[in-house]
Amino acid sequence: MNQPPGATSLHPIGIYDSGIGGLTVARALSKVLPNEDFIYFGDTAHLPYGDKSTAAIQAYSVKISEVLLRQPVKAILIACNSASAAAFELVKEYAGSKAIVLNVIDPVVDFIKTNYAGKKIGLIGTRQTVQSNVYLKKLNALDLEIQLSSLATPLLAPMIEEGFFNNNISHNVIHEYLDSPVLNGIEALILGCTHYPLISKEIEEYYKGRVAVIDSSDLAGKAMAAELSKLGILNEKGMGTKRFFVSDYTRSFAESTQIFFGEKAELEHYPLWE
Ligand code: DGL
Repeated sequence: MNQPPGATSLHPIGIYDSGIGGLTVARALSKVLPNEDFIYFGDTAHLPYGDKSTAAIQAYSVKISEVLLRQPVKAILIACNSASAAAFELVKEYAGSKAIVLNVIDPVVDFIKTNYAGKKIGLIGTRQTVQSNVYLKKLNALDLEIQLSSLATPLLAPMIEEGFFNNNISHNVIHEYLDSPVLNGIEALILGCTHYPLISKEIEEYYKGRVAVIDSSDLAGKAMAAELSKLGILNEKGMGTKRFFVSDYTRSFAESTQIFFGEKAELEHYPLWE
């Protein structure tokens, strides 16, 4: 891809998600790219995306991309797996001439391509992500005999959002899901949701080292760094400033930022439709 016109190293990176769960991705990104400025958009007015139709997620995604391009941003990272599955192609078509557009699925597919040819892999995510079959289509297209077994785990995101992780409740819910025969014999498990990095330790404990746990947030951060560097628009001298927009503001969203970002983030209310 050529450098998008107007995009310079000094422009911020836009990241969006259905809510504040994507702050796990923002956090991973800011670790890899500490000098980049970020604008995060959480579509809290419309969450969860995991149970929405593809058409609805596409409409929200285009609107958010419009807001991000207006800032302007040099790149848009779709931090949400459900939106990456439902709207990546459309957002790329809409914004791709003005900004780099990346998702959280392709970096995982690249990683699997390199490390798991001929192996059986598991995927957990929202209903939207699993039912879209996007991972399956992308892995099948590699023609590397990778077998994918997917399980929708819709209870995990709300459970984590309510602060239930690293406790008995999360232990039982995680075990109930991972005991599913669908995931028998896998060698790696893709954490296909913004929220799951927060339970990755519990998932690793469940498998006791038998199954590798693949965290898409880390891989997405590295993919963004590689893309910016390839295009010569890395910001190596910036201050790493961050702004956080949400389409609906409540105190509980503000309080939950600590869970996902590791520190309190100052949320700015930015309605998508006036
Ligand atoms: N951000 C969503 C994802 O990664 C999870 C939360 C939701 O359903 O909106 O799929």
